[in-house]
Amino acid sequence: MTLASFLHALQPGLAPPSIVTDAADIAPWLTDWRGRWAGVSPVLLQPSTCDEVTAIVAAAEAHGVGLVPQGGNTSMVGGATPPADGSAVLLSLRRMNRIRAIAPDKAIVEAGVILDTLHREAEAAGARFPLDLGARGSATVGGLAATNAGGVQVLRFGTMRAQVLGMEAVLSGGLVHDSLGGLKKDNRGVSIDHLLVGAEGTLGVITALRLRLVPGRVERAAAWIGLDHPARALDLLRRLETATDRIEAFELIPAASLDRVLRHIPMTRAPLGSPLPWNVLVEAVASPGEEPPAALLERLLADAAAAGLVADAAIAHSNDQTEQLWRLRHSISEAERAEGPAAQHDISLPIDAVPDFLTRQAAAIERRFPGTQASGYGHLGDGNVHFHVRAPASAGRDWADSGEGKAVSAFVHDLVTAANGSISAEHGIGQMKKDELARLGPPARLQVLRAIKRAMDPHGIFNPGKLVD
Ligand code: FAD
Ligand code: LAC
Ligand code: ZN
Repeated sequence: MTLASFLHALQPGLAPPSIVTDAADIAPWLTDWRGRWAGVSPVLLQPSTCDEVTAIVAAAEAHGVGLVPQGGNTSMVGGATPPADGSAVLLSLRRMNRIRAIAPDKAIVEAGVILDTLHREAEAAGARFPLDLGARGSATVGGLAATNAGGVQVLRFGTMRAQVLGMEAVLSGGLVHDSLGGLKKDNRGVSIDHLLVGAEGTLGVITALRLRLVPGRVERAAAWIGLDHPARALDLLRRLETATDRIEAFELIPAASLDRVLRHIPMTRAPLGSPLPWNVLVEAVASPGEEPPAALLERLLADAAAAGLVADAAIAHSNDQTEQLWRLRHSISEAERAEGPAAQHDISLPIDAVPDFLTRQAAAIERRFPGTQASGYGHLGDGNVHFHVRAPASAGRDWADSGEGKAVSAFVHDLVTAANGSISAEHGIGQMKKDELARLGPPARLQVLRAIKRAMDPHGIFNPGKLVD
């Protein structure tokens, strides 16, 4: 790579703070959230305008320098960590954080706007942005779109793809794609927006988004429900969905995950008097004039208990109690990280197959790899669980990357593939699952992904080494 000539080409148009050269300022962005990968980036580029991004892309192509787009660096698959060989530089979008327009029917925001900020701005405008996840304090809308993130409201509102109504993005050749005008209908061929959503920064750089807002909700309530088997959770979900369209979230949490949260996260306590093997966190909402959500949940859960589906339940009667229940759910990743090494999988299956995977197949995996503990939690309503196989007690910190850790992941992914599932439901492929995608990806999918990559990134500069080559 010809970094010196690349930087020379960028100057004097791009000056500090758009270029950071101090190693201490770059270091925090070179490892991923889980601490699994470490990369090298001789400089950190942090443009503040689309014009600056355009100049960077043009220079990168001219000088053969890779660009690793980065937002909040919360990727679960090493997607925003640069390669270790110094062949690419970090391109942070965090300074592109302006809200260009926000109103109940419109949100045009730059890629570096943090999810939490968008939630607050939307609320101030009398609306809400219907996507939420545990990384909301750091994840940016650009990163969420690039990974087609899911989270806990997909059940009602869909993934990030459903929220993207328009986009500004810099493509190869420094060309700017702009669909921020938000046309409801536009059939001039395939959607460029949708090619970039889920592309993980491998096809271009998203600089701004037009996002869907929904009417602000006035009231919400959550309930924590104890059950004896995930199949009962699925029955409960179907029952609730038949009775009402006001269920927004339905998250499955095994006792093992709750125990880890209670052990590692301060100021948390068990919501139920006696622990049950499985838990569900459900949230309902109500608009003015509708039955209050706590009353709705109480009524529906009493019926479900009478039908033998629910063993115990606690309903939150204040926003504070609701927040406490959600804190338990959103702390699972942090608690799992603190617990020690594990092979982690973000899988989706046909929804009816999930309970069997979490029980019978989990037990089969533990038998096959003695000393491991397998459990899954997450978005049951989407057929998506985060399936973690914990290392045997004697294993080292890097067990997931060891021969046994890799064998476990291959075994899990084989089971998922045999069941017509996906080895990446919502976190993406990044560098973590690139080899597994190449091994297991259906040939038609791989052929199309590779052809699009070649066509849209002819110089191979966009997030090299991620997703597909
Ligand atoms: P980064 O991590 O910085 O980047 C992610 C990917 O997007 C990289 O490939 C990067 O190159 C690319 N990228 C970033 N910005 C741009 C851009 N402007 N243009 C082009 N490419 C770009 N995910 C879920 O789906 N559901 C969850 O429930 C969920 N919960 C999480 C909980 C925790 C505690 C954590 C740490 C993560 C969680 N995630 C979840 C992971 C999720 O993918 C990320 O939080 C988010 O989507 C990435 O946003 P980011 O700004 O941090 O992107
Ligand atoms: C969650 C992340 C890991 O659902 O996707 O907690
Ligand atoms: Zn998730």
